[in-house]
Amino acid sequence: MKCFVIVCCALLHLTQSKVLPTYLKKYSCQKSDPEYEKCVWEGFESVRQYFVKGIPELDVPPVDPFKLPYMSVNRTINELMSISAVCKDITVLGFKNTIIDDLKADPIKHSGEIRLTIPWLYLDMDYDVRGQLLIIPLESSGHFQGNFTNTQMFVKGSLKTYTKNGVEYFKTNKLDTKITIGDGEIKLTSKTKEMQYAADLITEFFNENPRRVLDAVNPIFIEWTKDFFIEMSDEILATLPASEWLPA
Ligand SMILES: *[C@@H]1O[C@H](CO)[C@@H](O)[C@H](O)[C@H]1NC(C)=O
Ligand SMILES: *[C@@H]1O[C@H](CO)[C@@H](O)[C@H](O)[C@H]1NC(C)=O
Repeated sequence: MKCFVIVCCALLHLTQSKVLPTYLKKYSCQKSDPEYEKCVWEGFESVRQYFVKGIPELDVPPVDPFKLPYMSVNRTINELMSISAVCKDITVLGFKNTIIDDLKADPIKHSGEIRLTIPWLYLDMDYDVRGQLLIIPLESSGHFQGNFTNTQMFVKGSLKTYTKNGVEYFKTNKLDTKITIGDGEIKLTSKTKEMQYAADLITEFFNENPRRVLDAVNPIFIEWTKDFFIEMSDEILATLPASEWLPA
């Protein structure tokens, strides 16, 4: 019986379609396309609607609302900037309004870069934070709501191939990101009434001069985002052979 189950599973795995879903196939760009970059750009615009809802066949989660059950950060930059935080039930709204400002793609070198503007991002989550934010001690636990406007994002990267069971796949080779959040307004509600003053201290310090805080937090934010992008891209890329992502 056990053996039967294993054989069945193996067969199921083999017959699992390792091709792009039909509704996406028409947007894939051939390596030999003389206007490859234009094709990729148009492809991005066309599949945006599917990204928003998620593409289960490719393990792409819905992007708007984007939900993350858990996230943790633990980084110290210096005595004025350290964050140790655990966040839960994270929801981000607004990715669907993303504007592609520029896109470069090289099908031979497997490299590319993209410049994006996200007009606003609304973030809602439960948090537990310790650390130091410039002159403000961070010691708070509760609910966070924030709306961040005019986020400029630049992502540059390249892919490399690896072989699994005789089939070539892509994974991230290099990835660099630059992100600037233009402005924002936050609201922190402490879990306990007695600690609301600590939450208010952080809220007021941020809202008084978002730029000061956003710049200070940026290195930690970039590092986290980069790790997150690599993890997510590699997961998505591993769902299909390289030849499906980039047909000859
Ligand atoms: C954060 O990192 C520091 C140093 O790397 C470590 O001592 C500390 O225990 C970590 N905190 C958490 C909550 O993981
Ligand atoms: C966030 O702010 C933008 C710009 O002020 C606004 O258009 C948008 O509706 C806000 N989003 C939410 C969810 O409040």
